[in-house]
Amino acid sequence: MKEVKIETKLDIYEDFDELPKSIQSLMELAIEARDNAYAPYSKFNVGAAILLDNNETVIGSNQENACYPSGLCAERTAIYYAGAKYPKAKILKMAITASSQNQVTDKPIPPCGSCRQSIAEYEIKQNLPIEIYFMGAQGKVVKSSSLANLLPLLFENSVL
Ligand code: THU
Repeated sequence: MKEVKIETKLDIYEDFDELPKSIQSLMELAIEARDNAYAPYSKFNVGAAILLDNNETVIGSNQENACYPSGLCAERTAIYYAGAKYPKAKILKMAITASSQNQVTDKPIPPCGSCRQSIAEYEIKQNLPIEIYFMGAQGKVVKSSSLANLLPLLFENSVL
């Protein structure tokens, strides 16, 4: 038996203002999407914006349902929208922001495990890392230079 350590590297920006201007623009799209989320049950709004290599952007927000498991997270709404609308384009960057309707969300909110697995599919398919930025409604912004970096030991199609 031997122990294996898995390391990850993240960049932390102090706040939105410290982000490069191009990422601020992408995050602004995510904020607008977040504010239009359909989240009447959790009251937790999430927005995502994606930049593609054809210079187009797509957005997504969480879409909830009275039958709770039928709802979908913002990140998957966005990535499936990108895959459906621009099937040949590569996904370069994704900005994510979340804001509770009940309290100030001042911590960066990472994508959930299911969303990480879904984003990983596209990163593997396109053989190009997807940069991920995530924040709350205010405060620090986390950057991961790839999805794989956020999901060690991910399940890959090469085993099928
Ligand atoms: N949610 C997202 O949109 N993305 C995540 O990564 C985690 C959670 C949504 C799902 C649900 O509508 C609400 O946030 C509370 O879980």
